Amino acid sequence: MDKSFTDRAKALDAQDPLAALRDQFFIPDGMIYFDGNSLGAMPKAALEAVSQATQQEWATDLITSWNKAGWFALPTDYGDRLAPVIGASAGEVVICDSTSINLYKALFAGLSLRPERTVIIAEKSSFPTDLYMVEGALSARPSLEMRLVDDLLSAIDEDVAVVLINHVDYRTGKVAEVEKITARAHELGAVVIWDLCHSAGVLPVGLNAAGADLAIGCTYKYLNGGPGAPAFIYCAARHLPTVTQPLSGWWGHANPFAFDTGFAPDAGIRKFLCGTQPILSFRALEAGLDIISALDMAQVRAKSLSLTALFIDMVEADVPALTLASPRKAEQRGSQVSFTHPDAYPIVQALIERGVVGDFRMPNVLRFGFSPLYLSHMDVVQAANILCGIMAKDVWKADRFKARGAVT
Ligand SMILES: Cc1ncc(COP(=O)(O)O)c(C=O)c1O
Repeated sequence: MDKSFTDRAKALDAQDPLAALRDQFFIPDGMIYFDGNSLGAMPKAALEAVSQATQQEWATDLITSWNKAGWFALPTDYGDRLAPVIGASAGEVVICDSTSINLYKALFAGLSLRPERTVIIAEKSSFPTDLYMVEGALSARPSLEMRLVDDLLSAIDEDVAVVLINHVDYRTGKVAEVEKITARAHELGAVVIWDLCHSAGVLPVGLNAAGADLAIGCTYKYLNGGPGAPAFIYCAARHLPTVTQPLSGWWGHANPFAFDTGFAPDAGIRKFLCGTQPILSFRALEAGLDIISALDMAQVRAKSLSLTALFIDMVEADVPALTLASPRKAEQRGSQVSFTHPDAYPIVQALIERGVVGDFRMPNVLRFGFSPLYLSHMDVVQAANILCGIMAKDVWKADRFKARGAVT
């Protein structure tokens, strides 16, 4: 391996303004973790937060915690904390439910803003749950039509009610032209939903600057909220007075404790809530939100790009058997680098055995996610060297790397 990569990594680490953040996370000894785009590392403060929430708020204060510990307000309190990270304002974001469920709400919310239209348009390459949720919407309202396309920009027309865009493609890490697509959709009278799962917490996201309508995303990837952490939904303030969503549970009611027979939605972002939220998971998420909301997203983005560029340069120089599937141009690349290889699965398993944790995506993709909060450039050098060794010695060909678990 070329020594100049090590020199480059050392120089970049020496001037890294985010280097100290790593100490705020549990990173197992001997592991280089490239799966923060799937499940972010655990912030140390989450342990204390969950311990306090279980011992004091639940075990000791019990039901009084809904008021005393502010449990009932957590979805909007944390939503307000997340808002600046994704370019939104306080009162436009609520944390709740899962991404898939929030997408269902967002689809009908978008349709409620364009009642005269019936077409939902989405990318063929979309993360599958997004398309499955559109199918669910179609089965609930058979007059709707789903159009799956390769290029959203050219496919939007005046029949389209809702455009669904993944900000960053989960397979390739390619950044979509969300601002341009939103502007085009608005020209033609459509509403846009941004899926921010692979950008929230790692790329600057400018929802309000782009005049966005609706957005959803998870908090367990780059926001480090923990497995199954509650997701978020954004609705631009200008739509809040008129927008509706179909999961009209009591937490979205204007006055839930009046216990009225009929549903009357909250006037603000709480109208996107449905029912009781997983408070312990909220407490775990708070630690991740505290870390990210204190950071300058431009610095996070700059480090992300220097990490991914170094990895691409090293792997392309030394592992010619792998083909780059992510954009080479920095501005088109999220915080992920993907390569393809016909035997991607066993190669990923061999890497994991040696402490380099990435993941595999069908049909032939090796995915590496780069969290600038806890990875260093020297981690990248070490990982690329391990990958190089595995490929040079055909280590991945051993039978034990072929067995597949339920989750790949
Ligand atoms: C782009 C994208 N959208 C949606 C989801 C699904 O979210 P959930 O399982 O939290 O509903 C994921 C999960 O990885 C994703 O990557």
